Amino acid sequence: MASIPKGGTVAVTGSAGFIGGWVVRRLLDKGYRVRACVRDANNPERTDFLRAMPGFASGRLTIHAADLDDAGSFDDIFAGCHGVAHVAHVSSYTDHEYVRMVCDHLIESVNKSRTVSRVVVTSSIAAVISEADIQEYRRRPVFYEDRYPDETNPRRTPERQGYSMGKVIAQRAFADAAAESGDWDSVTCCPADNVGPIQSPHQKNMGPWQHNVEMMLLGEYYQNGAYRPWMTVDVRDDADCHIGLLESVHVRNGERYIAWSTDTPKVEEICASIDRLLPEVGHDTPAVTDNFPDRIKAREAEFRAIWAQCDLRNDRIKAVTDVEFRPFDESLRDCVESLLSVAKVKPKLREGFAHRV
Ligand SMILES: NC(=O)c1ccc[n+]([C@@H]2O[C@H](COP(=O)([O-])OP(=O)(O)OC[C@H]3O[C@@H](n4cnc5c(N)ncnc54)[C@H](OP(=O)(O)O)[C@@H]3O)[C@@H](O)[C@H]2O)c1
Repeated sequence: MASIPKGGTVAVTGSAGFIGGWVVRRLLDKGYRVRACVRDANNPERTDFLRAMPGFASGRLTIHAADLDDAGSFDDIFAGCHGVAHVAHVSSYTDHEYVRMVCDHLIESVNKSRTVSRVVVTSSIAAVISEADIQEYRRRPVFYEDRYPDETNPRRTPERQGYSMGKVIAQRAFADAAAESGDWDSVTCCPADNVGPIQSPHQKNMGPWQHNVEMMLLGEYYQNGAYRPWMTVDVRDDADCHIGLLESVHVRNGERYIAWSTDTPKVEEICASIDRLLPEVGHDTPAVTDNFPDRIKAREAEFRAIWAQCDLRNDRIKAVTDVEFRPFDESLRDCVESLLSVAKVKPKLREGFAHRV
């Protein structure tokens, strides 16, 4: 059980994704050798951005096809690796037998490798705070690593809370397997709402937050999550959190760490900030609409007050890694610029402005 050696070899599941792609890039920046795992290595739309990374030309980055749904898929890839960043989504979060099966597939490949000493499992802030009853945030407003959603609430079912429950199942499955093995350890990273630059056009439609920024650019935006503010982390800082947890000598098997800056911008502020940060674009800031049913709308003031008294903490991840979280403005600016330049999004403009690309 150990942190990985600096400059060692790391496999990254979900490498074609928004977060996984940044974990790959930041690992290369820090001198690691990387095995990028994707489902279809021959799909240029999803993998060309990886091939364009300088480490690919030298061979420090290699690309591998593997599907979590297939047992044994990762055996050859993990053999010789020091670490694994398991960032990928799975095909279903509501079928918890399936979630356990997928964990077992990956765990078997880690065990067979005999070389992997640490796995970082990507969970979510949903595994910390996704409550079936919003009043639970009044009772327990401090959001930190020891907090779990109220698991006794009968409304916490796979149908309603499958994602949050599936992430907790994965965290525990890896920690238990690591303890049983004794050869490796498992640390969980719980990222919040990832905002920042996309690296490939296909990523525009993947994670929810960059898509939400795209909708703002296109002149349409709406409230989310019962008036919940965004609880953000820059995707590059999130990647650094994953790497910091692979490297850290201060973490223990089974622990989890929240990756967020603790910024909580409101949807309407974010929408207006695009023009504040990038006035040259001439973005025609849309009014934020509210698509909630009337019974939710009637409680807007109450819900906003509940979110406002929540207290987000990131002391623990800062204590075990050297990550500095950048301010949200930087994440939003770079997200917008990447949507314009990489994905060729054509924003809605005020009169007198023209699209540049
Ligand atoms: N985005 C956020 O704000 C956020 C917040 C909290 C937690 N997370 C967690 O962070 C992780 C990555 O999120 P993301 O936003 O980067 O997602 P993403 O852009 O949608 O990428 C997810 C990747 O998962 C891979 N994948 C899906 N099913 C797979 C399977 N059966 N086998 C192998 N790979 C599979 C896909 O690979 P291919 O492209 O190769 O098909 C995809 O590239 C997820 O675990 C998510 O729950 C994300």
